[in-house]
Amino acid sequence: MATLSVIVLAAGKGKRMVSERPKVLHCVGGRPLLTHVLDTARSLGPNECVVVFGHGGETVRAACENAESAAWVVQAEQLGTGHAVAQALAVMAPVDTTLVLYGDVPLIRAETLQPLIASAGQDRVALLTAELPDPTGYGRIVRDTLGQVVRVVEERDADAEQRRIREVNTGILAAPLDRLRLWVNALGNHNVQREYYLTDVVEMAVGEGLTVEAFCASDPDEVQGVNDRRQQAQLERYFQRRQAMALLERGVTLLDPDRLDVRGTLTTGRDVVIDVDVVIEGDVRLGNGVRIGPFCSLRDVVLEDGAEVLSHCCLEGAHIGRDVQIGPFARLRPGARLADGAKVGNFVEIKQASVGPQSKVNHLTYIGDTEIGAGVNVGAGTITCNYDGANKHKTIIEDRAFIGSNVALVAPVRIGEGATIGAGSTINRDVPAGHLSLTRAPQKNHRDWQRPVKQGKKSSPA
Ligand code: UD1
Ligand code: CA
Repeated sequence: MATLSVIVLAAGKGKRMVSERPKVLHCVGGRPLLTHVLDTARSLGPNECVVVFGHGGETVRAACENAESAAWVVQAEQLGTGHAVAQALAVMAPVDTTLVLYGDVPLIRAETLQPLIASAGQDRVALLTAELPDPTGYGRIVRDTLGQVVRVVEERDADAEQRRIREVNTGILAAPLDRLRLWVNALGNHNVQREYYLTDVVEMAVGEGLTVEAFCASDPDEVQGVNDRRQQAQLERYFQRRQAMALLERGVTLLDPDRLDVRGTLTTGRDVVIDVDVVIEGDVRLGNGVRIGPFCSLRDVVLEDGAEVLSHCCLEGAHIGRDVQIGPFARLRPGARLADGAKVGNFVEIKQASVGPQSKVNHLTYIGDTEIGAGVNVGAGTITCNYDGANKHKTIIEDRAFIGSNVALVAPVRIGEGATIGAGSTINRDVPAGHLSLTRAPQKNHRDWQRPVKQGKKSSPA
């Protein structure tokens, strides 16, 4: 089998992004453009992958979680795509075929690249092209009368007739490495931009009797680059649409495929239902029959089978057991663990705490740094006072305890098994199992009492 290496060009600044951040670090689907490309490159199984970087320097490498899968070569001055490829080739080991990808063309798929790789050889260069309704800004594919590709002409160097050509160069090409090395070393910069154009190797290849085979991308969106925020936004929509379609194919119900954003990985069981305007980030796993209500955001969470999240919930770093019900309007923060059958209702915040099986925390409550056992009821307005201004302390609520409404549990404190806390209590000492504890001030009813009257106002007739 022919051996392969991949070059990814990522040295450009991306002026049109109007940003301090290097272009290839802007995101689509929650991940930098360049990480998408590196994943795709790796999936092709090359002997070697080399990223040419420049603008942004080491920050580019540091921001790519998959940076290790490539070697990194600096192009100190951006003298053109041909010059960039030459920098990579200077450090690369010999292989049969080299594929050139772009750090700012993030959504290219391996399936689209494989035919190019298969086609390239000693007598053949493969070029990925696209037919665009508006080819403005792109290099055009010039063919002879027999329809053979003869060269690529950059828009700025093209004449009026060439500018009318709608088949454009995506920049992506596969070529025999040894020949590519000779060609890029022979490039000149006699063009409007005074740059070393990689595209000029097409004419060189044809001149040496090689065939340049153009593969026209079936979906122009896939080969679209990100040059400005508008294109970034368009690609984001395209990417989200592609993911939504894949979810539908996997049997997930999406009430509106255009109103789900997945910025990470979403794993789903059978018969999952996701309502509108849901944002998924990081690693999210939804078991069988899980239902997510409208307007929820989920980041790095696991929901076991049958769990249901009602509308307007914010879940992060949480583990949710089977048949749990959450929301509406609940916030689960990192370290929240809800056991099977637990219930968390509206305006409840849970942080670094476990809620045992069948326990209920239904209304207006803060639970932090707490362990709640099984079958516990936490009344409305309960607050675990976990922070003394300097340190965090733990609250433990044992099985079947009943916490009345509006209770402050001042940690560290332990509520024993089956204990009952009267409404309105402030509890700062441990409560033994089975006891009733309340700190309520005795109620006084005053008969001879009159409401104050606003000064200067005539008292109303009796
Ligand atoms: C290039 C192609 C053009 C094609 C278009 C597709 C050339 C000469 N032209 O034009 O035919 O239609 O892409 O989008 O190749 N880069 C470097 N170092 C450099 C210059 C560029 O790493 O010195 C990188 C950029 O970061 C970018 C990519 O190469 O990722 C393309 O560079 P860019 O300047 O955007 O090329 P275009 O002028 O768009
Ligand atoms: Ca350019």
